[in-house]
Amino acid sequence: MDSVKFTSQYEPADFETFVLVTHDAGANFLEDKIKSITGTSVILEDFSNAERNTVKSYNFVADGKFKEIIIASAGKLSEVCDMRLEKLGGYIYSKIKTNNSRICVLNNIEGIGHETTSAFLTSGIILKSWQFDKYKTEKLPAKIGSLTCVTNYIEQNESKYPELDALIQSIFDVRTMVTEPANVLTPTALKNMALDLEDLGVNVSILDNKDMAKLGMNALLGVSKGSEQPPYIVIMEYRNGKKQDKVLGLVGKGVTFDAGGICLKPAKGMSEMKGDMTGAAVVIGIIKALALQQAQINVIGAIGLVENTISGNAQKPGDVVKAMSGTTIEVDNTDAEGRLVLADVLWYVQQKYSPNIVIDFATLTGAIQVALGHEFAGYMSNSDELSRQLELSSKNVGEKIWRLPLHQSYEDDIKSDIADIKNVGSGRGAGSITAAMFLKHFIKDSTQWAHIDIAATEWDSRDRALSQKGATGFGVRLINDFIKKNVMDEE
Ligand code: BES
Ligand code: ZN
Ligand code: ZN
Repeated sequence: MDSVKFTSQYEPADFETFVLVTHDAGANFLEDKIKSITGTSVILEDFSNAERNTVKSYNFVADGKFKEIIIASAGKLSEVCDMRLEKLGGYIYSKIKTNNSRICVLNNIEGIGHETTSAFLTSGIILKSWQFDKYKTEKLPAKIGSLTCVTNYIEQNESKYPELDALIQSIFDVRTMVTEPANVLTPTALKNMALDLEDLGVNVSILDNKDMAKLGMNALLGVSKGSEQPPYIVIMEYRNGKKQDKVLGLVGKGVTFDAGGICLKPAKGMSEMKGDMTGAAVVIGIIKALALQQAQINVIGAIGLVENTISGNAQKPGDVVKAMSGTTIEVDNTDAEGRLVLADVLWYVQQKYSPNIVIDFATLTGAIQVALGHEFAGYMSNSDELSRQLELSSKNVGEKIWRLPLHQSYEDDIKSDIADIKNVGSGRGAGSITAAMFLKHFIKDSTQWAHIDIAATEWDSRDRALSQKGATGFGVRLINDFIKKNVMDEE
């Protein structure tokens, strides 16, 4: 796409597509604008009292050229908020028919309290536009040539948009990483993508096989044994905060392909396991978004990158490994590998950087889809305060999360006869919770911690408001908002 522009003047002849965004009581606005665009009075359907996200497209010819008018209703003006406008932007994108279109967005929602309407509509339109055609010989057409928003609040929109643009770029990166096949996106390739953040002032350091062996990270290394691909832990340090003692730790599961190991997964659907590194991608994305904004915060991102495949050297069910923390683990199921990877990364981050808050992202369990479907990510936390803060941010940005209990009564389920704990529950259900109970063994009492299981929200086989079928990039906007509201140094 060429450009995003906020302006108070527009010349109808310069555009192919017009988007008129209105609300339940905005009929006059539509008539006036349509007349100024088409030169004639056109009577359309009645949009007053239209339900939220009603979007319709009309065609007309002006100056001998085919043009498109899209009318979108935000519903009740009293209920309009940034997040809803962003989603409306996504629905608008779906209606655009013209390719490479110069798009002009006009709205009558702007006003006190809604000064950044144009920026959020733009963000929604662009977020929804992402598609992946790298491996297609015939490229997919792009609908947006340029986007111009007509607004009386140019300054407010221009100062808000860089944050939204940073999020868009980062979310697009996450979606790309998740969609890339596992023969391309190996642990080495993902490590190199994280290294690119150095250009933005992030300090990136790497632990390789030997470093991890020295540190006793046998839980992570055990997963990697069946693979030809070398494993890595990548640490991304972004330090731009004033209070040097306050550090946020972000940890991500980066299994670049999860075949299940010796406990091999069935063939059907196995290809989806190229996305088992989404947690790592989200952590890279969040750090990129913060660095692009030059946010004043200290964050440590740590991702464990391995492939869980199969060979004569692969770890076997029943093997016992000792994690870096000293806890011994019976590997009852080699397909419950994410928690083994996270065990060592979580412990390392706390030992080395003493973050006061740690949030981990992982496509950890299929059970989370059974519990919550694709709508909510499930999370578990040892802190009511952190949970409250995350839920507020979740509501602000519209990335839905739901807390599940992290209760001691589930602990018995992961007791092992031979070691301290085993890596799967005894089959009494609550698979997402027992996975979190396992992780809790690697969390210090002094750490406020949340584990977000994104196994069912990272990818959707249906269109969502802000993404087409496929990778969603869930989590980046959630944590950006959480950081802005709770962690960032006050000016
Ligand atoms: N990567 C999977 C979880 C997953 C499932 C992610 C579906 C995305 C979509 C994880 O490593 C796994 O295999 N978990 C097992 C755990 C079981 C062996 C206790 C599962 O969910 O079946
Ligand atoms: Zn697995
Ligand atoms: Zn996995």
